[in-house]
Amino acid sequence: MVEFTLPKNSRVTDGKVWPKPEGATNTREFRVYRWNPDDGKNPQVDTFTVDLDDCGPMVLDALIWIKNKIDPTLTFRRSCREGICGSCAMNIDGVNTLACTKDMGEVKGAVKVNPLPHQPVAKDLVPDLTNFFAQHALVQPWLQTETVAPEKEWPQSREDREKLDGLYECILCACCSTSCPEYWWNPDRYLGPAALLHAYRWVIDSRDEAAGERLDQLEDPFRLFRCVTILNCSKACPKGLNPAKAIAELKKLMVERQKT
Ligand code: SF4
Ligand code: SF4
Ligand code: FES
Repeated sequence: MVEFTLPKNSRVTDGKVWPKPEGATNTREFRVYRWNPDDGKNPQVDTFTVDLDDCGPMVLDALIWIKNKIDPTLTFRRSCREGICGSCAMNIDGVNTLACTKDMGEVKGAVKVNPLPHQPVAKDLVPDLTNFFAQHALVQPWLQTETVAPEKEWPQSREDREKLDGLYECILCACCSTSCPEYWWNPDRYLGPAALLHAYRWVIDSRDEAAGERLDQLEDPFRLFRCVTILNCSKACPKGLNPAKAIAELKKLMVERQKT
């Protein structure tokens, strides 16, 4: 298990212990990071007791239960509740993952919930991912062609399409990039595993005609080559993808083109 530290701006103290739900016999303790940048106080960890007989099995179910039944100001992102939108990514029991697919039964003891590590915090469990998405935009994640567009669609062989498996499924949850020490230390210069996985996805797309320019963008001591193959990113990905492998393939392509 890869354990990560708390997010930026964290001099965290113990916070409020909220009253236990009356009459509940089957309960679980949740220790949840709280911080409101507008109230001038330090971050704190609040303790909530969740009535499991009144709540679904996932960590997101518990957070929604807490928000509905105890503290409506608890702030977190979620949308699909089925591991598709990537918005509920957070650090649960020391591991970056999706709250909606994380079964609280897998966690021993109190369930510790923090925002994704080493990102500025907007509020409570919501990280500010402005930099993360700017880096995603930098790799220009769309089809680029010079050939005149065909009337119906850009054809692709079955084999070429299969090359995109393990890449197109990325939901941009940021679990990988925020688990990467190189990204923690160089967030402004190293693109991080998620953006690089997308860069590779477009470089190897048989329909794309901008592979050279895409690789030019990565010719830099930090943007790509700062990856030192620690593999935290691949361990962290809740979709089972392997960004470290995509990064290795990109590095190989860079070396190969330097030889020609
Ligand atoms: S393999 Fe590279 S991108 Fe992944 S965690 Fe390690 S340094 Fe970061
Ligand atoms: S590669 Fe995995 S962990 Fe990284 S952003 Fe995509 S889905 Fe999330
Ligand atoms: S709510 Fe969409 S991935 Fe969790």
